[in-house]
Amino acid sequence: MDLRIREIDAREILDCRGNPTVQVDVILNDGTMGRADVPAGRSTGANEAKELRDGEKRYGGMGVRKAVANVKEIIQPEVKGMDASKQRELDAALIALDGTPDKSRLGANAILGVSLAAARAAANALHMPLYRYINVNAHVLPVPLLNLINGGKHASNDLEFQEFCIFPVGAETFSEAMEIAMAVYEELRMIIIEKYGKIAANVGDEGGFAPPIIKVREAMDNLVMAVERTPYANKIVYGLDCATTHLYNPETNKYTLEGNELTTDELLAFYKDLLKDYPIVSMEDPFSEDDVDGFVRATKELQIQIVGDDFLCTNPRLIKERVPLGASNALLLKVNQIGTLSEALDAAELAYRNSCGVMVSERSGETEDPIIADLVVGINAGQIKTGATIRGERTAKYNRLLQIEQELGSSAVYAGRNFKIPF
Ligand code: PGA
Ligand code: ZN
Repeated sequence: MDLRIREIDAREILDCRGNPTVQVDVILNDGTMGRADVPAGRSTGANEAKELRDGEKRYGGMGVRKAVANVKEIIQPEVKGMDASKQRELDAALIALDGTPDKSRLGANAILGVSLAAARAAANALHMPLYRYINVNAHVLPVPLLNLINGGKHASNDLEFQEFCIFPVGAETFSEAMEIAMAVYEELRMIIIEKYGKIAANVGDEGGFAPPIIKVREAMDNLVMAVERTPYANKIVYGLDCATTHLYNPETNKYTLEGNELTTDELLAFYKDLLKDYPIVSMEDPFSEDDVDGFVRATKELQIQIVGDDFLCTNPRLIKERVPLGASNALLLKVNQIGTLSEALDAAELAYRNSCGVMVSERSGETEDPIIADLVVGINAGQIKTGATIRGERTAKYNRLLQIEQELGSSAVYAGRNFKIPF
């Protein structure tokens, strides 16, 4: 076995929205290959690592030929001969070669593709599933957050909050969680057709329904009704991604919601009222990405899981700076927000050491690559957000988790109600 990198290849492929993205192959001296695809966000945070887009006519400027060329012409000669299993050394070399704080020179998409493909190649060479390669103690199957109603930047409706999710926390196993999720999905589909007509049963970017709803409570009521029509109501709680960075107007310092302009206080009062009526256990980005005070107040006053997405950007520096202030108590972990596997693992570890939960997340622009399924089990995170179930790029992750559950056999533990600290 020779784990040194012999060759790196890359190409432009398409994500689920039909936009180009980067796919990387890392080939080792012994001939083993690891392949990884890079996802892309649409409702992005300002502090994310920067993906490189060509800005040319083709694909409306979204081409990634420059990022692909950077992998082959700049990264490959530099990391050739490095041991693919020395992930930190490899990632440090990639970061140094780029030389910018946000990976904008070579592109976070170029860098992440190499970082993830190298991990896969090393795991393959060692004949280990990736989750076990990441962690010999990997055993926790996550609670899947099914975002069954999509709004915000992910849907062509006027619903402002981006994601309305169910958490099947009362399932005994991950496979039972999927059964429950699909039962709710089907009931919700029927309800949406009954209320809004069959055209409303089309789905948004992450596979949830995107009916012509404006009000948050109307979306919640539909979801609750669907849940109550199944036999699983006592096994399900709810979560929201408010994604308020995109509702915030820095000029007025207010949030646009349901035709009103709300101050931080008013939005907080809106959340408090909502929590009185619905068993919501988790809220992501309840305030905009730089509103540290808003996050501190939400964490203290709402007493539920407050997840930092745009707010923390999987960035160890932001986690260190913001979490100890009591601003959020969970990290949304998206590998492409930071751009290397080792920095993403650092982000998770920092979160744990600050008593935070970790929710591994898809991007709205995904491919069929299920790598986050291995990652979520590899870090025993307890929660995964990977869309609703009928789009193939989402089922790819669920299907990988079903395989992992079977492989782990009796050592598999479904996080369930302990999704925040699954031990
Ligand atoms: P994105 O959205 O992938 O479009 O950024 C996901 C999220 O906000 O959680
Ligand atoms: Zn989000």
